[in-house]
Amino acid sequence: MRIIIKDDYEKMSKAAADIIADMIRVKPDCVLGFATGSTPIGTYKELARMHKEENLDFSDVKTFNLDEYLGIGMEMSKPYETDQSYARFMYEELFKHINLKKENIHVPDGLTKEPENFCSWYESEIKRYGGIDIQVLGIGGDGHWAFNEPGSSLASRTRVQALTKQTLEDNFNSFYRKAKVKKEDMPHFAITMGIGTILETKHVLMIVNGINKAGIVAEALEGCITSKVTASAIQLHPGKVTVILDKPASSKLTWSIGK
Ligand code: GLP
Repeated sequence: MRIIIKDDYEKMSKAAADIIADMIRVKPDCVLGFATGSTPIGTYKELARMHKEENLDFSDVKTFNLDEYLGIGMEMSKPYETDQSYARFMYEELFKHINLKKENIHVPDGLTKEPENFCSWYESEIKRYGGIDIQVLGIGGDGHWAFNEPGSSLASRTRVQALTKQTLEDNFNSFYRKAKVKKEDMPHFAITMGIGTILETKHVLMIVNGINKAGIVAEALEGCITSKVTASAIQLHPGKVTVILDKPASSKLTWSIGK
């Protein structure tokens, strides 16, 4: 596991974007896994800048997002005014700024009428494209990866997951365009890639910033591997793992950064 510590959020975001851009330059038809939340916004901004100013070309890139709230979603072709879906988030924060082809974008379909079938299809699509080359991940306040809440099997696959009270609370604060929704209308379920799914990605790229996450980052990277902190499964990944932290998020690590 490579742990990189940067002075601040901007430098963390730039370092993550550089890793993704290098992959695109080496393998223009690579498969990228994207995450939502406030953490990767800076990385997406930097990728959009590289597209605009340095001709970083996404035309052959394929993408798979980690998760989506169940019951909401969007069709990429329609302009939505009041949509809090992760699809909308991705569109606003990244997709509309780069030249990804619509047919190469995969975000779990929160509007599906057949969630179980959809989840198996999503898994088979990831395989059909040859697996994910780089998966971007943040970490939830309770240590979750994607929407794999505490107690999720570390072998889990893409499925419907109930959200915990803490996640509902945390995520309402970052709910996209939350001014337009009431707290009680927030979806209580989500479709999420499983921990087993994530562990099959070739390169796990976890980014975390802020003092609020310092404790949970230390638990995930240096604590016991446990389904109570599903991101601790990072220690089980058999391939390439890069963790990029800003200084505050790294402040509770001990042995892994040689304190
Ligand atoms: C949500 C997402 C996770 C993300 C987490 C943290 O729960 N499903 O993928 O890591 O939020 O979000 P933030 O980066 O805003 O702290």
